Formats: sequence, C-alpha cells, structure tokens
Amino acid sequence: MVRELKITPIKNGTVIDHIGNGLALDVLRIVGVQTLDKDSTVSVALHVRSGKLGWKDILKVENMELSPRKVNAIALIAPTATISIIRDFKVQEKRTVDLPDRIVGVLRCPNLNCITNQPEPIESEFTVLRRRPVLLACAYCERQVDDFLHHLA
Ligand SMILES: Nc1ncnc2c1ncn2[C@@H]1O[C@H](COP(=O)(O)OP(=O)(O)OP(=O)(O)O)[C@@H](O)[C@H]1O
Ligand SMILES: [Mg+2]
Ligand SMILES: [Zn+2]
Repeated sequence: MVRELKITPIKNGTVIDHIGNGLALDVLRIVGVQTLDKDSTVSVALHVRSGKLGWKDILKVENMELSPRKVNAIALIAPTATISIIRDFKVQEKRTVDLPDRIVGVLRCPNLNCITNQPEPIESEFTVLRRRPVLLACAYCERQVDDFLHHLA
C-alpha cells in the first residue's frame, strides 16, 4: 500500500481530475489564472498515476466555479476530465465534461474571411462532425477545426 498526499485539500472550489497526461497547463489556460484572486491557491499535478487512464493530470482551484463556456472548452481538449465542486471540504457535485452538439463562443474560426471574424459582433458557432477524435465545422463557413488549443476564443 502506497501512502500519498500529493495535493492539500481545499475547503471550497473546483477539482478538475482525470485530465489527459500533460494537458493540465492547457486546461489551466482555459480556467484563466489571471481571473483568480491572488489569495486562492491553485494546485497543478502533472503525470499522476491513475488506474483508469494510466497517467493523468489534476487541477485543484480554490474559490472558483467554471462557467459553462469554460466547461465546453475543457471538454474539447480534455474529454476524459471530471469536474467536482468542493464545498466545505466535501464533494458536493461531480460530473464528467461532455461536448454539446453546438459549441458557441468558445473557438475562433480559422477562416479569416468568415463572417464570425468580421468587425460586427457575430458569435462563433461550431457543430460536431465527429466525436472520436473530435472534429468540428464552423456553422457559418463550414471550415473544419481539430486543433482547438490554438483556436480558443
Ligand atoms: N477537499 C478536497 N480538496 C481537494 N480535492 C478534493 C477534495 N475532496 C475531494 N477531492 C477530489 O475531488 C475528486 C472527486 O472526489 P471523489 O471522492 O469522488 O474521488 P474518487 O473517489 O477518487 O473518484 P474518481 O477518481 O472516480 O472521480 C477527486 O479528484 C478528489 O481527489
Ligand atoms: Mg480518484
Ligand atoms: Zn467560419
């Protein structure tokens, strides 16, 4: 039996667990460290042993809850992730991320001529063409995207 305590518990906040190995810093970029209070602790664990995944990453963020838009962005780059809301040290709610059929406002269309990239404010919208691996198409110009990290809005 191996005893370990890799990250200290948090009182209130969000745990994003079962992130694909090495992807936690990308997920952290979606969370947006700069939007957090400087007195709220963020713990990042890379390359943690996991029964289910072999290796995984974990993020624990104090005093933060994710917007639905950020959850959708996380689902694109870390589809195996689970999100737990911690209240008073206990898991209040745990869910898997899932990709909706339409992804609105999360990505920029790579087509510079697309109507969503023009000065008038039109929100981007992508439809799911394929789920494994994920392939999306712009709802306006049909441009396909599979490199989500570089097209986050
Ligand atoms: N007070 C806490 N502070 C920080 N992380 C916590 C706290 N309580 C639970 N967690 C983390 O939240 C996640 C969900 O907790 P839970 O007890 O359901 O985990 P688990 O039994 O390992 O389940 P699974 O790994 O199958 O999701 C885990 O990553 C756990 O480490
Ligand atoms: Mg676990
Ligand atoms: Zn487009």
